[in-house]
Amino acid sequence: MTIQKDKKKIAIFISGRGSNMKAILDNVTTGKLKGLCNVALVFSNKCNAPGLTTAKLYKVKTECLESKGKKRKEFDKQVMDLLKTYDVDFIILAGYMRILSENFLHAYENRIINIHPADTYLYKGIHGYEWAYENNMKKTKITVHIVDEGVDTGRILGQREVDIKDCQSLEEIEERGLKAEHEFYSEVLEKIFKGEISL
Ligand code: GRF
Repeated sequence: MTIQKDKKKIAIFISGRGSNMKAILDNVTTGKLKGLCNVALVFSNKCNAPGLTTAKLYKVKTECLESKGKKRKEFDKQVMDLLKTYDVDFIILAGYMRILSENFLHAYENRIINIHPADTYLYKGIHGYEWAYENNMKKTKITVHIVDEGVDTGRILGQREVDIKDCQSLEEIEERGLKAEHEFYSEVLEKIFKGEISL
């Protein structure tokens, strides 16, 4: 991927599959994020994350540091040291399964964005689609928000309703929800990078 100057520099953080990361990379390459940002790196706290393999196909720089067994503060210090080289404007969490330490949050205050597969007013934490399925919900809401010191408590930047009333299984809900996530995350990022959403 060619690095363009004068664009926002972003790091995408993943821990696993990385389908949201892939959607962002597609949009940076040929879609709504083209010309608005450069992906300086994709970072994972798991070196065997399948998403890293996907990122390499896009010729994006990848980095990983194993977080397993490490204390939050120490690990985040290592990540911050690594990030210094890249000097990014935003950190885009896309299935990054770690809570960030206070120091990290302060260093990137209002510049860390996350996508959550539910309405964060109603449901925080992991397994958002299971929650919708188990509660027989007719619709759910994908949320893009700023990351603060709480778990999914940060200021909401955008929400997209997803109709799931005719879904017969959890898999169907997930599939529909993820499709919406893939479109919506880049839509919100586009507005952020264009300055249409103030942070
Ligand atoms: C997504 O459902 C996202 O909302 C949540 O974690 C999941 C990550 O999926 N934060 P993927 O790795 O992007 O496929």
